[in-house]
Amino acid sequence: MSASKALVFAHKVQRELRARGVWGMTKSVPAYAASWWRRWLDGAIDRKYGTDTGGILEKEALAAHGEHSGASTGYEAIQVPLFRRIMRDVPARPSEHVFVDFGSGKGRALLMAAEYGFKRVIGIELSPLLHQVAAANAARVKGRTELSPIELHCGDAAQYDVPEEDVVCFFYNPFGRVVMRKVVANLEASYLRRPRRLLVAYRNPVCADLFDNSRVLRLSSANRHYRIYEAALDGGAKPTCAG
Ligand SMILES: C[S@@+](CC[C@H](N)C(=O)[O-])C[C@H]1O[C@@H](n2cnc3c(N)ncnc32)[C@H](O)[C@@H]1O
Repeated sequence: MSASKALVFAHKVQRELRARGVWGMTKSVPAYAASWWRRWLDGAIDRKYGTDTGGILEKEALAAHGEHSGASTGYEAIQVPLFRRIMRDVPARPSEHVFVDFGSGKGRALLMAAEYGFKRVIGIELSPLLHQVAAANAARVKGRTELSPIELHCGDAAQYDVPEEDVVCFFYNPFGRVVMRKVVANLEASYLRRPRRLLVAYRNPVCADLFDNSRVLRLSSANRHYRIYEAALDGGAKPTCAG
């Protein structure tokens, strides 16, 4: 910790002590430590690559335009340990699939997916501001042969057609129902045009019913953090586990 940071920290502790007393402060230590630990874990990718994928931004700060900018949920990068859990549960061999992040933000999920050896990883992001940060992040890892190639598109996910290849589609609660309905319809049409391996991993699945009721997607696994679906010609909702 630098001297200036230590000073700021000392002032903060002094202020809190005055406001809440010793007992009040002691009570909040476990919660503070847990939140520090979570932030430290989530910083793993940026520490490793010297990238900038962190932070939380409200949708108003994203400088996005167009029909669907109001439907955005804002920016927050995927939690590093959770993304690894999702990848363990996705029943796909990365080397045979393309990974697409719908609402790729600064590209943390893309950087992580690139470590798994996908054929290539593709990000589609509405905010030009975040797209630029993602481009700078991708430039930082360019030339690393252990990572999959990263492709970035700045645009509306509702207008994006997934490649007609085996594909893993990733969503971290990027937008509301209106946009998600269009995206699901596009995925269904793409799959019916060319049936193939098409998987969906949906973190914080607030519009899960749109996937549950899809005519081609069936639930493969679920817990309170994410749901995973797989396209099948005899699709339809087949709920499995919960918890
Ligand atoms: C919760 S963040 C997820 C970021 C990234 N997927 C990750 O996991 O690190 C959601 C992202 O979706 C983007 N987004 C919202 N609406 C969109 C749209 N219609 N098309 C493309 N991106 C969109 C937001 O700008 C934001 O970057």
